[in-house]
Amino acid sequence: MRGILIVLAALTLAVSGASAADLKAGKKVFNKCKSCHSIGAKVRRMTGPPLNGIMGRAWGTAEKYKYSAGREGTLMAIHEATPMTWDVETLSAYLRKPKDVIPKGKMAFAGLKKDEDIEAVIRYLASFDEEGGEVDPEAVLAALAEAGEGEEPTAE
Ligand code: HEC
Repeated sequence: MRGILIVLAALTLAVSGASAADLKAGKKVFNKCKSCHSIGAKVRRMTGPPLNGIMGRAWGTAEKYKYSAGREGTLMAIHEATPMTWDVETLSAYLRKPKDVIPKGKMAFAGLKKDEDIEAVIRYLASFDEEGGEVDPEAVLAALAEAGEGEEPTAE
């Protein structure tokens, strides 16, 4: 039974296009975030906000987390879209150079240099829903791309 379930899970991933290797790469990059962020079923509040369901979520909306500005604060106002939503575009920019996106933000992280690291960690983040359950990241990213105006889907 367990074997069948594993085969089924593997098939689902194969069909969706997200290989286990992709997620593994993202999980590895997430090691750099782990000192401040938690994600998944056992999510905890740390220095940084919990990241379950972050893709498609508006900036600064994790419950009971004190951000560097209020939900209606000036940080959101630097973006044309208010509230700013975390999609592939905004999150890639933020992870590359946090201060470029939120200049007075308190994420003390230098940024990721490699495109493939940014892509991988975003896919990993997209693989958790709001409850920390595991979902198909490609479906999440595709829905997000569809919601954005004319944005290219990132799934290959
Ligand atoms: C040194 C601690 C630290 C590290 C390392 C760090 N972060 Fe953060 N992160 C924060 C803090 C603090 C905030 C809240 C920022 C604010 O309020 O301005 C934040 C905010 C965020 C947000 C916005 C959350 C929201 O609810 O809007 C995302 C997404 C995020 N971080 C992702 C990452 C990822 C992915 C990594 C690793 C590649 C990472 N962070 C590494 C501390 C960190």
